[in-house]
Amino acid sequence: MIKFIDLETQQKRIRKPLEQRLKKILDHGQYIMGPEVFELEEKLADYCGVKHAISCSSGTDALLIPLMAWGIGPGDAVFTTPFTYHATAEVISILGATPVFVDVYESTFNIDCEKLEIEIKKVIKEGKLKPKAIIPVDLFGLPARYRLIDKIAKKYNLKVLEDAAQSFGGSIGEKKVGSFGDVAATSFYPAKPLGCYGDGGAIFTNDDELAEKCKSIRFHGTTEHDRYHSEVIGLNGRLDTFQAVILIEKLSIFNEELVFRNEIDSYYRKYLNNAQYHPKDYQSAHALFSIVLCSNHKRNQLVERLSSNNIPSVIYYKNPIHLMKSFGYLGYSKGDLTVSESLSESIVSLPMHPYLKKEEVNKVVLAILEK
Ligand SMILES: Cc1ncc(COP(=O)(O)O)c(C=O)c1O
Repeated sequence: MIKFIDLETQQKRIRKPLEQRLKKILDHGQYIMGPEVFELEEKLADYCGVKHAISCSSGTDALLIPLMAWGIGPGDAVFTTPFTYHATAEVISILGATPVFVDVYESTFNIDCEKLEIEIKKVIKEGKLKPKAIIPVDLFGLPARYRLIDKIAKKYNLKVLEDAAQSFGGSIGEKKVGSFGDVAATSFYPAKPLGCYGDGGAIFTNDDELAEKCKSIRFHGTTEHDRYHSEVIGLNGRLDTFQAVILIEKLSIFNEELVFRNEIDSYYRKYLNNAQYHPKDYQSAHALFSIVLCSNHKRNQLVERLSSNNIPSVIYYKNPIHLMKSFGYLGYSKGDLTVSESLSESIVSLPMHPYLKKEEVNKVVLAILEK
């Protein structure tokens, strides 16, 4: 059976040093904010080329904490896309702010910058909400168009929070994911390119003041000097020490895995011409390999054919967020964001992990090309 994601093969590579590191934590007993958490943060900041990496309890909290630090709340508009995991928009709603959905490009599935500017202008003209921030999503590992997004953000005085949950390891030119916008948020959910064995996430920024605020919010609004006095409203948003060492070990083989992912992506692309478009200079982290079929019927037929050949596939995302029941209060309806709606009907993700063999990719490709 071909695996959609293979964590076992990866674990075999790191098992021994990992066991040693886990044992060390059992010996020192600092399960929360142990020294390994800070070791990881230094390594992550180095990897992304930013001043601060702040580990936290999940990708969702990594998105929520910077929004809290900026004081985003009722009456504020935050622009994002509906073609993503719903956590991206959830964090906006949790704070009482309003998600304003912007459709995506048909080719990259990332936020459409022309439509973004149109939506910002609309909100300003209506005058009901105050535009505050943009959350571009690096879907499936591909960075969004940050050069353009930053220009738009500057023009309208908006903050940019990069949703890098799927794209840790990606880059544009020499600039790594984590260094775009004002702040970035990644997820260490086990299935992510860099994943732990539970929930985890990290915030990346070059902004010293914001970094301090985020560190405080992740620990109930306290400071290092006094953990029993809170300065601001915060959360229990910490990453535990066990997860930190899992990430340290996985980070040591991460670049090599990225090379393998790149090779598999290129191999798929030799035979399939309907995959997510990767612009020149853009390096994806290849979290997922997704193709678009010409209709919902064809997509569903393919899913069945793959399954009958023992090939797993997953539909990311079957429901665009603006049509989910939970976001019904925003008043969107079908036909409002047509590219996202059409993608959700015709897209499918194929097996993608660093240890996928060429014979396995061949088997997937043959099942797809079979008439
Ligand atoms: C685009 C995106 N944003 C946010 C999240 C939330 O991350 P987590 O599951 O670690 O809370 C995910 C996770 O699936 C995601 O894919």
